[in-house]
Amino acid sequence: MNIAIVGSGYVGLVSGVCLSSIGHHVMCVDNDREKVKKLRQAQVPIYEPGLEELMVGMMKKKRLMFTTSIKEATKKAKVIFIAVGTPSKANGDADLTYVENVAREIAANMNSYKLIVEKSTVPAATGQRIKRTIQMNLLKKYQQGKGKVDFDVASNPEFLREGSAIEDFMKPDRVVIGVESKMAEDLLREVYKPIKTKMVVTNINSAEIIKHASNSFLATKISFANALSQICDRVGADVLKVAEGMGFDKRIGRSFLNAGIGYGGSCFPKDVDAFIRLSEKSGYDFTLLKDVRQINEDQKKAFVRLIEDKLWIIKDKIIGALGVAFKPDTDDMRNAPATDIIQALQCEGAKIRAYDPEAAHNAKKIMKGVTFCKDIYTMAKGCDSLMLLTEWDEFTKIDFKKIKQSMRQAVIFDGRNLYHNRGLEKLGFEYYGIGRGV
Ligand code: UDX
Repeated sequence: MNIAIVGSGYVGLVSGVCLSSIGHHVMCVDNDREKVKKLRQAQVPIYEPGLEELMVGMMKKKRLMFTTSIKEATKKAKVIFIAVGTPSKANGDADLTYVENVAREIAANMNSYKLIVEKSTVPAATGQRIKRTIQMNLLKKYQQGKGKVDFDVASNPEFLREGSAIEDFMKPDRVVIGVESKMAEDLLREVYKPIKTKMVVTNINSAEIIKHASNSFLATKISFANALSQICDRVGADVLKVAEGMGFDKRIGRSFLNAGIGYGGSCFPKDVDAFIRLSEKSGYDFTLLKDVRQINEDQKKAFVRLIEDKLWIIKDKIIGALGVAFKPDTDDMRNAPATDIIQALQCEGAKIRAYDPEAAHNAKKIMKGVTFCKDIYTMAKGCDSLMLLTEWDEFTKIDFKKIKQSMRQAVIFDGRNLYHNRGLEKLGFEYYGIGRGV
């Protein structure tokens, strides 16, 4: 099938590459000329394991192309996915300007039946607005004497995670489609035919809600674990054991119960905000989600307080950050908890050094006054303490005996409970985790 993906960001690019790898001809569109130029030279703008190899393979097979022209892509494709950004406005609303612009441009260039599928995370009823935008623009064309064309709008939210995006796309837990016609359903079933999984077929509004509800529920699990960590610290319980004990109950499950320094990334904070706003606008005050958001903010502050408490005077203390990305296996710094934590410590006069295997180049653009080091050992030299902010696998292989000798004080704050088995204490480190009952 000829498919167009408008917006070649994380979701758009991964979806485009994966859809071409299951046999479709895909044209990825982006209005950033520089990005399209690089993509055409097979340069991937993001760090995502396995993406580059797959993309190069598909380009060689001529099943994947890149363009800046929505016109070209619309004319060629039957199914057009919209995967442009939906950033947060200051009031938490999702900013749908890009979605509207794309819908207008698709309408202006439609030459035959098209199925327009929203893949970006959008508030409920956006599908209806896209439909109206296209209808209004088509009407203008008809008034100018152009021939009639049919179209459908559908919703197909994407659930892929950064760092495991390809695996998530190819082996999803489910594919959700929101449709209003048999034609749209059949086309989307055809698109996903090679992917063997459960398909949830519903109306557009429900599909849109499924995405916001899923991300908000996962964020709720994390905030629940973080709230538990606060109690565990106060009563001398271990949040890891509590999560393990809860997690064996199949109704609860162990995943997304890891306490730490809070969730970040491009989705959870934005989607929780947008869902709160959507609820407010519909007349329901989703206080539970407001607390989820607050607990997430408080968790970062609690971590800074822990460091202040244990290091005593922060001014001029040298603190080394192990990782800054919002999670491992990504170079993404969007809403990374590390940013707020480092800033708060800098405000107290701390000198921050940092090492991240992939995110340093992005972090340098937003973190001022941080010294980025080429490796962990250089960073740790002379440090008064280390703080682990991202649980990269590389950090499980550190030679802590060597590090301890070069540090001014052997103190470590483990914001992700990576070194949970107390091995560091045996090596003579003062160790502080999250919710470990100390
Ligand atoms: C998320 C959703 O998982 C995905 O389905 C959706 O499409 C996009 O948003 P992503 O942002 O890539 O994906 O990251 P995810 O792995 O879900 O982690 C989000 C954040 O939660 C990270 O900051 C992570 O460190 C944090 N997290 C996750 C916890 O703090 N504890 C946990 O137990 C799990």
